Amino acid sequence: MAAAVRTAPGPRGPGAPVLVADAVGKRFGGVQAVDGISLTMAPGERIGVIGPNGAGKTTLFKLLAGDELPTAGTVELFGQDVTRVGTARRARLGLGRTFQVSNLFRDMTVLDNVRVAARGGTPRARVFWRPQRPKDEISQRALASLESVGLSRRAQDTVADLSHGEQRQLEIAMALVTEPEILLLDEPAAGLSAVERSTLRRLIEELPRTLPILLIEHDMSLALGLTDRVMCMENGRHVVTGTPQEVRDNETVKAIYLGRRDKK
Ligand SMILES: Nc1ncnc2c1ncn2[C@@H]1O[C@H](COP(=O)(O)OP(=O)(O)OP(=O)(O)O)[C@@H](O)[C@H]1O
Ligand SMILES: [Mg+2]
Repeated sequence: MAAAVRTAPGPRGPGAPVLVADAVGKRFGGVQAVDGISLTMAPGERIGVIGPNGAGKTTLFKLLAGDELPTAGTVELFGQDVTRVGTARRARLGLGRTFQVSNLFRDMTVLDNVRVAARGGTPRARVFWRPQRPKDEISQRALASLESVGLSRRAQDTVADLSHGEQRQLEIAMALVTEPEILLLDEPAAGLSAVERSTLRRLIEELPRTLPILLIEHDMSLALGLTDRVMCMENGRHVVTGTPQEVRDNETVKAIYLGRRDKK
């Protein structure tokens, strides 16, 4: 395959949404994992998606990232219909993402993991192609990316020696080095200690404000603390969308998170 540059986008005027999901749904056999979810992200917007276990958050993430194709609805990225388009092309359009299940090469150094990502692939699967760049430029970009997540002092260590929290930081560095124009994070804080969580929180807060971020997170305080707007899902369906404060005060959300709501 020929080296591809970032594909020329469709309509992408100032203020045009960067990501639009219109009534997307995903059915797995008898399970309606995502049921008619609509979402519009403005440039620079940070949106949180919360909901209890099994709400459909990861499935929605996969529909937006291209890991799964929807059984209903459409997805647009930078004005282009990407509903039936795979992960590689979405990445070329500027979509950066992390994985809920770790996707790192554990025996390689931290820096080499980021260099692999910079060259246009994840260690496990080369998902897209970029023009070849000089080696030192790749190293410089990889180091800059590690710096931005606070991991530069670990550059020469192997991934296996990193703490769980540092591995999540590395995964974000690997997403950032692809120079994404939108970043999708699926439960970046899952399994982290309180200290690691606050490091991660600071890291996300310090990302450039121009980078739109969709943060899928089970932890309500993290999702609400880092975003401009929050959508709560339950049983694949939309419950409420609003400012973090509106969502925090919403009686249905409170009931869901206190576990008082009957599950269907
Ligand atoms: N590949 C699959 N095949 C069958 N069912 C699936 C598949 N993936 C997800 N599901 C089901 O879809 C529903 C939503 O799952 P999903 O993983 O999207 O939820 P979630 O909100 O991310 O949960 P969690 O907070 O536990 O990560 C669940 O009932 C789950 O069992
Ligand atoms: Mg999930």
